[in-house]
Amino acid sequence: MRKKVTIVGAGNVGATAAQRIHELGYADVVLVDIVEDLPQGKALDMLESGPVVGSDALITGSNGYEETADSDLVIITAGIARRPGMSRDDLLLTNMRIIGSVTSEVVKHSPNTLIMVVSNPLDAMCHHAYEVAGFPKHRVFGMAGVLDTARFRTFIAQELDVSVEDVQAYVLGGHGDDMVPLVRYTTAGGIPISDLLPKETVDGLVQRARQGGGEIVALLKAGSAYYAPSAAITQMTESILLDKKRILPACTLLEGEYGINSLSMGVPVKLGANGVEQVIEIKLTDEEQAMLDRSAASVQELVDVMHKNQAENG
Ligand code: APR
Repeated sequence: MRKKVTIVGAGNVGATAAQRIHELGYADVVLVDIVEDLPQGKALDMLESGPVVGSDALITGSNGYEETADSDLVIITAGIARRPGMSRDDLLLTNMRIIGSVTSEVVKHSPNTLIMVVSNPLDAMCHHAYEVAGFPKHRVFGMAGVLDTARFRTFIAQELDVSVEDVQAYVLGGHGDDMVPLVRYTTAGGIPISDLLPKETVDGLVQRARQGGGEIVALLKAGSAYYAPSAAITQMTESILLDKKRILPACTLLEGEYGINSLSMGVPVKLGANGVEQVIEIKLTDEEQAMLDRSAASVQELVDVMHKNQAENG
C-alpha cells in the first residue's frame, strides 16, 4: 500500500509541492483548502497528468478532513502569504489562528501522523503546531533550513562557477533574516568556502541568502516564493517516506541542544520514517553561539506574542 501524504493549503506552495510529490509516484496525496472546489480542481488536473508523467499515485482534493484520515505525513502550507512591504512577523497572529485550527483537525483524523509546518513565520508556526498537536517533539517539525541552504548553495555555486550539487551548506537558527550560516562547515567539493572565496564575498552571499525570500517577493509583487520551497518540502518528504535518514536542516523543538530550551528552531537533524530521529549537535565558536542566541531571541519574541494573545483570548 502506498503511503498517504496530506497537504493543507492548495495555494502556490501547497499545490506545487503536491505536484512534485504526486509525480514521485510512491505516495497518495490529499490536498485540502478552505476555498470551495479549488483543491478538487487542482488535484483532478494533477491526477490526469499521471499517464503522461508515469505516476499511478492517487491525488484528491477536499474542503474537509475526513479524506485525510490516517495520513503518514501532513504538510501544512495554509495561511496568508507575504506581500511586498510585509514582514514575516506581520503574518504572525493571522497564521497562528489558521495553523492552530488546521493542526487540531489534522490530529483528530490522523493521531499517528508526522506534521511538517511550512507556513510563516516558520519557527513560530512550527512551535505553535507542536503545542497544539500535543505530539512527541520528533513528530512535529518545520521546513526552512533546506530552503535557506538551497538559496545559499545556489549563490555559492554561481560565484565559484561549480555544480550546485558539490556545494554543501550548514545553517542554524530561524528562517530567513535570522539564518545563522556556519561558514566553516560550508564547502564546495569538501573544501571550506572560506578557503575559496574572500570574506567580503562570503558575507555578501550570506546576506543575499538571508533576504532570498524578500528578493522573490519584490519581483513577484503578488505572492511569495514557491518553486524552491516546494522542492525543499519534497526532499524532506522523500527522506521520511523512504526512511533515508538524511541529515538536513529543519525546525524542531530544542530542549537544551545548542543551549536553547523549549523553543523550536532550525538545526541539522536526521530525518527518517519517525520524523526528527536525532538532532545533530556540534560545538559552536563564541561568535556563532552569539548569532544563534540572537536568532533564538527573535523567535522567542514571536512565541511570547502568541502566548500573550492566547492568554488574553482564552
Ligand atoms: N485551511 C485550509 N487552507 C487555508 C486556510 C485554512 N484555515 N486558510 C487559508 N488557506 C489556504 C488559502 O485558501 C490558500 O489557498 O492556504 C492557501 C495559501 O496559499 P497562497 O496564498 O498561494 O500562499 P503560498 O504562497 O502557498 O504560501 C503559503 O507558505 O511559504 C509559506 O509564507 C508562506 O505562509 C505562507 C505559506
